[in-house]
Amino acid sequence: MSNTILVGAQWGDEGKGKIIDVLTEDADIVVRYAGGNNAGHTVFIGRRKYVLHLVPSGILRRNKLCVIGNGVVVDPVSLVDEIKGLRKQGVKVDGNLVLSETAHLVFPYHRELDEQREILKGKHKIGTTKRGIGPAYGDKAARVGLRVIDLVNRERFKEKLRRRIEENNEVLKAFGAKPSRLAGFKEVHAAYRAAGDYLKRFVANTVTLLSEACQRGDNILFEGAQGTFLDIDHGTYPFVTSSNTTAGGACTGSGVPPHRMDRVVGVMKAYTTRVGEGPLPTENAEIADMLHAMGREFGATTGRPRRCGWFDAVATRHATMVNGIDELAVTNLDGLDAVETIKVCISYRIGKARYDYVPSDAEVLSECEPIYAEFEGWRTPTSKVRMWKGLPPKARMYLKAIAELTGARLSIASVGPAREQTIFV
Ligand code: IMP
Repeated sequence: MSNTILVGAQWGDEGKGKIIDVLTEDADIVVRYAGGNNAGHTVFIGRRKYVLHLVPSGILRRNKLCVIGNGVVVDPVSLVDEIKGLRKQGVKVDGNLVLSETAHLVFPYHRELDEQREILKGKHKIGTTKRGIGPAYGDKAARVGLRVIDLVNRERFKEKLRRRIEENNEVLKAFGAKPSRLAGFKEVHAAYRAAGDYLKRFVANTVTLLSEACQRGDNILFEGAQGTFLDIDHGTYPFVTSSNTTAGGACTGSGVPPHRMDRVVGVMKAYTTRVGEGPLPTENAEIADMLHAMGREFGATTGRPRRCGWFDAVATRHATMVNGIDELAVTNLDGLDAVETIKVCISYRIGKARYDYVPSDAEVLSECEPIYAEFEGWRTPTSKVRMWKGLPPKARMYLKAIAELTGARLSIASVGPAREQTIFV
């Protein structure tokens, strides 16, 4: 399989968890390289549903090593809960999970700051997951963050944590946070020390571990979180998350150099969704109502209904450019089974000006009106189809068209959440 980076080609929630699970069959190691427990990867195996937030989806298969890389921000208390929850579901989490010693930590004051900033922003809020992701990455960039390596060093951790809590409580007070919302050193220290003790056995230098794996010729799958347009550099800033979710992030977030990467797989839905605020040019109430009525498109982490729209080929073409996508996996094809006329955005317009690319200014993007091409719907259930030739010709035509517009080779079509609902093209 070689070393593969898997990224979301839209605004996150593209169904990456399932595709990662499918591709993991041929991988030796699965590495998560960015984001934190703002992500929610849902995987169905048989009738069982697994929702993963920090632990790579590879954990659900035997004999795969899962790595949480240095680019991830880790809430250790929530990671311990996730590991315990997986174990309760009968999943082995032991020597098959490794946590980078240089990954940064998320603390309760990060979550509180996340919340207070959102309140202060009022109608300009980002609509974050309130998991403290932005403030944690902010501390990392400001060089005041605490890392896993600190957590497992009891004395050093205590001292550093005390200083960070003092400073952040002052900041929170300035934001107008109520005294009850300030972090108490004693409680935070006790909870994090317990989490540190639990996690100690998983902690390692993942950079040298992955370098040795590359030298052995192991197959590594880099599991992207969120999506291209939530990338801190390439997304619809400021309506983005705080990490590099695009393919480049796989190198910085793991320590594996670019020349070791062989292939980039982009995952995209057959339509478009987004959670949180920010521009979504093809947003459409009708398609949102239809998908929500089908019980689809509710966030895995926060349960929020996702905003929905038609497929946006201007956006996915941009994703191909930024990530260097070679192959595409299209998910949720079955979500369009009942639609009579399917629209695909091929260009944007503001007045007489036409845009064939994604404008960098989120305000300009929010004024863009989509120019659509129309496709006849196949109006046949596809969720039981297992072979490319078994798909209705109109569905095949649609898939080929969106792959061509996106500029990469279609390699997978997914018609449901289960492993077997996967069609290799
Ligand atoms: P944050 O990552 O919690 O700071 O949220 C920033 C933006 O990214 C918000 O619009 C969130 O809804 C969005 N976001 C973060 N994680 C995910 C995800 O896993 N899927 C989809 N959207 C996400």
